[in-house]
Formats: sequence, C-alpha cells, structure tokens
Amino acid sequence: MTFYVTTPIYYVNATPSIGNAYSTVAADVLVRHRRQRGEETFFLTGVDEHSTRVYRVALEQGLDPYEYLDQIAVPWRELPERLNASVDYFLRTSDDGHKAFVRDFVQRIYDNGDIYEDVYAGHYCVRCEAFYAEEDLVDGKCPTHDIVPEWIEEKNYFFRLSAYQERLLQIYDERPDFVLPRNRYNEARAFIAGGLNDFSISRAGQPWGIPLPWDESQVAWVWADALVNYLSALSYARPGEDLRETFWPEVHHVVGKDILPFHAVFWPAMLLAAGYELPKHVIAHGWLLFGEQKISKTDPLVQALGLTETYGGDAIRFWCARAISFGQDGSTSLDSIGERYDRELANDLGNLVSRTTAMVARYRGGSIPEAQNALGDEIAAVARRVPEQLDAWDLTGALETIWELVRRLNRYVEEQKPWEQAKDESLNASLDESLYTLVDGLRAAAVALSPYLPDSAPRILEALGQSTDLSWENVEAGRTSSADGIEPAPPLFPRIEATAAA
Ligand code: MSP
Repeated sequence: MTFYVTTPIYYVNATPSIGNAYSTVAADVLVRHRRQRGEETFFLTGVDEHSTRVYRVALEQGLDPYEYLDQIAVPWRELPERLNASVDYFLRTSDDGHKAFVRDFVQRIYDNGDIYEDVYAGHYCVRCEAFYAEEDLVDGKCPTHDIVPEWIEEKNYFFRLSAYQERLLQIYDERPDFVLPRNRYNEARAFIAGGLNDFSISRAGQPWGIPLPWDESQVAWVWADALVNYLSALSYARPGEDLRETFWPEVHHVVGKDILPFHAVFWPAMLLAAGYELPKHVIAHGWLLFGEQKISKTDPLVQALGLTETYGGDAIRFWCARAISFGQDGSTSLDSIGERYDRELANDLGNLVSRTTAMVARYRGGSIPEAQNALGDEIAAVARRVPEQLDAWDLTGALETIWELVRRLNRYVEEQKPWEQAKDESLNASLDESLYTLVDGLRAAAVALSPYLPDSAPRILEALGQSTDLSWENVEAGRTSSADGIEPAPPLFPRIEATAAA
C-alpha cells in the first residue's frame, strides 16, 4: 500500500500562522499513522511563490523578489521542522523542476485543445487570486476579504472548464468519498452542478510567474501553477526517480475549506485535460477561529514559530487535533494551548509516566515485573478503533479514543493504589499486575499517540525501557519486554514559565 499526502503550498506574503500550521499538522498525523501501519508514504509540503501579493510585498520592502523569496523561505522551511512534521520534500514553485513541469503540463492541455484565447474583463481579488463576477461581490467588495477587487481587462488564455461538467458529476456520483467530509462533497458537487465557467489560466503583462510555453508574453495564473505542484514534485524530488509511478494517483490532498473549489473542481478538470488520473481524496478541514475571526497570517500573536518555541511542536500538534473538531470550524483561543498543555499533556500523560516509572523504581528496584495486563480490552479497543477513525479522517475522534485509554490508566492507578499494595506482602502479585498494567498500557498508548506526539512518544518508550519501534502491531496488550534500570522519569512536559507564555 502507498499513501501520498500533501498540504496546500502556502503563500509567502508573510510568515507562517498557526492556521497554516494546522494544515501541516493534519497531514503529518495522517501520514505518520499510515507509516506505522507499514505503508509506503510520501509527504509533500512547500510554498506558493508566484502570487501577485508576494511580488508586491517584495517590492514594498524594496527587495528583488528572488531575494525576498530566499529570505522568507527560511521560516517556512522551519515550520514543518518545528512542528516535528516528517516531510519528504519541501517544494518551492520557483524550483526549476517545478517550472519545467508546469510548462509541460499546460502544454499538454493546450495540445489537447482545452485552452483557447479570449479577452477577459473582470474583478480580480489579489488575496484570493481569483476573478469575481459582479453579482458575487458584496457591496462591490470581495466576499471573502472585504476589499475592493481590481478591474482587469486583458487578453488571456482560457481553460475549457465548462467541457468537464458532465465528467466531473459522473466522477462525483461514482466516488462519493472523493471529497470529505460529506458537507464539503455536497458543496463541491453543487458548485459543479450549478454550471461551470471557463477560467482564465494565464495573466498578461505580468513580470512574475511561469511563462507559457506557446506564448511567453503570458504567465500561468498562480493557481494553475500552484496546483500542479502535487504532481511536479514527484518528477524531481528524488533525482533519477519518477515517483509518479509509485505515488500517483494515491494522493490525498489536505486543504482548508476556503480553497475547496480549486482542489475539488478546477484541479480534477485540469488533470483530466492533461491525461492524468484523479487524486484519491480531497480532505477539507475547517478553520481555527479566535472568537468569530479566522486566524490571519499577519497577526503577530498567532505566529506559528513563536508558539512552537513556547510550547514545543508536540503541544501545538496536540492542540490542533483537539482544540476543534477536524473538518468543522471551531472557536478557540491561545489560552487554551496552555490549558491543554497543563491539564492534559503535563497532568494526564506526563504525570502518569513520572508516577509509573517512579513506582517501578521504588517498589521493584527498576525492573518491570511480569504479569498480565488487566486493561487488555481497553487497549484492544484502541487498536481497533483508531485505524478506523483515521481511515475516516477523524483526527479528533481518534485522539479522543487514545485519550480515553490515558484517562483509564489514571483511574486505574487511583483504584489499585499501588502504594498501599506495596505495604502488604500478600498483595505482591497484585502490585506486579498493577505496575505491569501501567507500563504496558502506557507503552501501547505511546505507540498509538506517536502520530500526534512524535517527539514525546519515543521518550515515553525510552523511559519505560522499551523499544521505540512504532509499528501499529505494538498497540496490543502484553508486548512489554522485560527491562531493568527504570528510573523516575523527569517531567515529559515541564511547567512553562508564565513569562515565556505571555
Ligand atoms: N497558496 C494557496 C494554496 C495553494 S495549494 C495548491 C493558499 N495559501 S494560504 O497560505 O493562504 O493558505 C494555506 C492553508 O492554510 C489553507 O488550507 C487555509 O485553509 C489554511 N489556513 C489559514 N488559516 C487558517 C485557519 N485559521 N484555520 C485553519 N486553516 C487555515 O491558500
């Protein structure tokens, strides 16, 4: 089995926000889980550099655009690293390999007769990088960005999207899981059924972008350039290898709901026109909202790198998966990162690791006793349900399933009271069972949690003297191997100083 996952490629008009981090975290949780089930995986992320806004920001800062791009690429490359994301390739649309591929891709569509020349006049929103019809504007403004779009009138090349309406509807009927979740599928299908207009695939007189091969006076429209990244990367990410053979069309696009039509309508039509198979799934997530407000890149409070600096990548991942229900919009707050950190990561999980290791050290001289796991059924439930939930893209639900086990283990300590069992010789076997159940339960929980907490999970396993093999088979009771020299583990999630968090 192969599993290829992508994030949107991000506009680099500013540094990464926590909203952008959200897409990266979601994709990484999915791909790490597939990897632990033994699938061959590929994870692509990157940056979208040819947007008009990026160009303008560079000029505003008095920089040559390429100089600007090289500077801004640094924090964007840092984003997946700081989030502990296991990226296989980081694409930049200014990569030579990408540019050459895009030219070839649009040429294929042109040769197939689905591109024609016409004059375009319309309202263009540079923040959406899209044209709007008069009737779609709200008080003359872009409905998403509340800014007055620019009036553009120019000779363009058009992509015959209208010719794909029937085929797209047929595909939607045959593949009810093409777009997930269901409400987004319905939205995309309604968009198609409502009638498709051809769209302009190029921009005239622009200094910024990839020139069209048959008319170098025009550049590819930024979305026509950007969407192709999902394919282009496979052609040059590993020199000498064509990864399309392995990973296309096993691709899963994780995107925010704001860019759904581009991925669920325009992109499939472009692929059909260029003679490629369609992606497996387009998985649309909702927005993190602070109050009613979508988090914006330019808000200094929600800079993703600063937040990972304060809390660590794992805590941010955990919060992303848990703060809102994946697929839905959800209102949250920055304070809730610290609250979850203290209450769930430090208390529920971190303390359990510290207590368990301390008790093994104290009552059994650091050796894990041999016994049966008393919570085998609970672990079996995690082993069964989490893959089902993650196969249904329920990232929030799967984490809750694992967290139920973590909470169960905490209750188990309180029920068993190993410190009292330790006082009574006749309860020796019970104490062995309590300690074994805690170690073995934590071990299984750590393996299951590793897609969410990739940095902390191996540290839990090490503290318990266990192998850091994260294969999913290890989410099974009774797989703890004997180990000596277990010492009380230092806090997994140390207290964050109030000043650092402020
Ligand atoms: N460059 C395009 C994507 C091209 S993909 C071929 C773009 N870039 S973006 O930087 O504006 O946004 C990228 C992603 O960040 C989107 O999926 C968007 O939904 C996500 N998020 C930005 N803010 C967000 C939240 N507040 N919450 C969750 N995700 C949001 O669009």
